[in-house]
Amino acid sequence: MKVFVTGGAGYIGSHTLVALLAAGHEVCVYDNFDNSSPVALARVRQLTNRDMAVVEADVRDNDALTRALTDFAPDAVVHFAGLKAVGESNDIPLRYYQTNVTGTMNLLAAMDAARCKRIVFSSSATVYGEAQYLPFDEEHPIAPTNPYGRTKAMAESVIGDWASATPDASAVLLRYFNPVGAHESGRIGEDPQDIPNNLMPFVAQVAVGRRAKLSIFGDDYDTRDGTGERDYIHVVDLAAAHLAALEYSARAVGCEAINVGTGQGITVKELVAAYEAACGQPIAVEIAPRRPGDVASSYAATTKAERLLNWCAALDVDDMCANSWLWQSENPMGFEGD
Ligand code: NAD
Ligand code: UFG
Repeated sequence: MKVFVTGGAGYIGSHTLVALLAAGHEVCVYDNFDNSSPVALARVRQLTNRDMAVVEADVRDNDALTRALTDFAPDAVVHFAGLKAVGESNDIPLRYYQTNVTGTMNLLAAMDAARCKRIVFSSSATVYGEAQYLPFDEEHPIAPTNPYGRTKAMAESVIGDWASATPDASAVLLRYFNPVGAHESGRIGEDPQDIPNNLMPFVAQVAVGRRAKLSIFGDDYDTRDGTGERDYIHVVDLAAAHLAALEYSARAVGCEAINVGTGQGITVKELVAAYEAACGQPIAVEIAPRRPGDVASSYAATTKAERLLNWCAALDVDDMCANSWLWQSENPMGFEGD
């Protein structure tokens, strides 16, 4: 199968490329390297011993996108390209809407021009907003609480309307919970450009000596140990979910939103303890005030993914921490070292 992958050089994209190439698919990556490095693609080539086409361009550039899609003529598209920092989305909302919403609209129009009718989209559990009940199932009301989440909810709606209006179209909206970890080789992984916003990359940078200590944002939540509880999903499992979604899209029409998580909540303190075991050293922490906008608990109902995609997570928190640590310890400055 020919697969067009926007944002393929990024964290989740690069791991999905490994799975796609290993399964024998032909791939074209479309990425402007806004938050990624071409080194990640070189490493993917080394890992798989396979090549891929690469177009360096922006999803906001309608002409370039249409040209790339019509030239490659894919069977399906996986759409990772986007901006993802919740805090930043409050400061530069228009850039988020242009990239995440207009970029998605451009992509669908370019798919029409290339007669491509299958898309797998990177959505997020953040579209649910505050939990009205747990676990979050796909019927939970959509009520995002920040601009980033609203761009994802809007892009979902646009894709759903496109799928309704396009005969035989198939769209899968994958709502990721908290992707973490790295490829087991330690050759690719998450490489935040700035101070990490997310828990595991921050912990990894403390472990490797790039940061002094982790601030735990609140220990007075209504959880087992008072710290926030999340559904961490290994990025290699997440990559496999994309292959399962592509297979599903070949046999289904319409648009489906599907959670991608393990269904298990893990607290901040539990994750830190697992990381300490993986790296064999203590992680310095301090208790800090709650981070505005954080919820106590978030975890997925996973039955829809099992039913429709025949997919469930295989890797656990120890795998997530061990693989993250291998990546971080062998690449302390991320891809910058190359
Ligand atoms: P990432 O930043 O590592 O990857 C995104 C990729 O898109 C990067 O390679 C970046 O260079 C590219 N990109 C950004 N703007 C672009 C543009 N205008 N034109 C072309 N390419 C552009 O992020 P990731 O963690 O791999 O996330 C991938 C997708 O998954 C994103 O859409 C993100 O919103 C979504 N998502 C991520 C998480 C998470 O925690 N990592 C959770 C839920 C959803
Ligand atoms: N946390 C800390 N210290 C830190 C960073 C995080 O204690 O330095 C805590 C948070 O308070 C939270 C937990 O660790 O309890 C997880 O926080 P993350 O920032 O790693 O993840 P979030 O659940 O807040 O958000 C992530 C992504 C969003 C996405 C959401 C749902 O950042 O983009 O998961 O999938 F929408």
